[in-house]
Amino acid sequence: MKFKSQAVLAAAVAVSNVGVAQAHVFIWGVFVNGVDQGTFNGIRTPAYNGPPPRGYSNSPVKDLNSIDMRCNVLGDNQVPHTIKVAPGDNITLDWHHNNRTIADDVIDFSHHGPALVYLTPDPPTENSFVKIWEKGLYELGPTPFSPGKWATTWDIKANNGLMNFRIPANLKAGFYLIRAEMVGLHEADARFDQNSRRGAQFYPNCVQIEVVGDGTVELPEGVSFPGAYKYDDPGVHYNIYCSTERTPLAPCTDASTYKIPGPTVWSGAWPETTQVALGPVTGPTTATRWSSWIQQSVVTTATYDQAGSPVPVATSRYTASWSLAYAAPTASPAL
Ligand SMILES: *[C@@H]1O[C@H](CO)[C@@H](O)[C@H](O)[C@H]1NC(C)=O
Ligand SMILES: *[C@@H]1O[C@H](CO)[C@@H](O)[C@H](O)[C@H]1NC(C)=O
Repeated sequence: MKFKSQAVLAAAVAVSNVGVAQAHVFIWGVFVNGVDQGTFNGIRTPAYNGPPPRGYSNSPVKDLNSIDMRCNVLGDNQVPHTIKVAPGDNITLDWHHNNRTIADDVIDFSHHGPALVYLTPDPPTENSFVKIWEKGLYELGPTPFSPGKWATTWDIKANNGLMNFRIPANLKAGFYLIRAEMVGLHEADARFDQNSRRGAQFYPNCVQIEVVGDGTVELPEGVSFPGAYKYDDPGVHYNIYCSTERTPLAPCTDASTYKIPGPTVWSGAWPETTQVALGPVTGPTTATRWSSWIQQSVVTTATYDQAGSPVPVATSRYTASWSLAYAAPTASPAL
């Protein structure tokens, strides 16, 4: 482990605390046909360094060329549990911010934007991410320049963090990753490559699944992450207050003028998804506070002082390394 100067550590803590203070979001649980699979099971929690204690970073990814666009920070790291599903199963992802509870704020109400789900064989290859669900701007705001009703805030946040989609009919058995994504467009009138303080905020998060059964349908060619999104995509560089014009502001006239980033939804995906009845949450509803996090490829490990503040003890450089062949996750202590 490589040690950095105190100045670097202090900066890392400051940045990290800012990220934690904001209402950022990741997946806490997965329901299969309404049955909870257990908090954090199967989920490649961003910057997951556990267990235990579980470390996480819930800051957005804004660099479209970063490998973190694939499955977020440390998304190449397998988690021990893989969730078994069958074609046609109804999946409900449970997104939260601080706690896996109804009281949790899920995501800050400013973070209007689209929500998307992709499926890829695990591990991903070139052009292997296939879009199977999306929702963007679905209703204009009541007054000119108001942001309108968006998937992240008016749908998923309003619905206590629940995102619904369905495993494609007759999908061939095998190991896949779900890449689900929330996008905050509140600063997307600027491009990150031109102003790194602003730009669209991406919250991708991957879930390990094994599709069982005797399905025969293979996923078609899809897109790559990174690569699928560009800084000048109309769905990435967009002013939610409105519109298709960037300067000067022009009121939005039609909700369909917003174009969700990425390819169209695959024709093999379900045209409609509904919310199924959900059973109880199993497992913890709070996360152990992070003892390690990663920012700009620097992993910082910390202990906590009497006042509960993180005191960094070590840092190291992290480089994502995605395997090209599937290997079963190694067993580790029960979550
Ligand atoms: C998924 O939900 C749909 C629509 O409510 C329902 O018809 C279907 O039976 C459900 N699938 C499973 C496997 O429960
Ligand atoms: C999360 O839940 C715990 C336990 O109920 C509570 O103490 C804490 O204040 C909650 N955190 C936030 C940020 O709401």
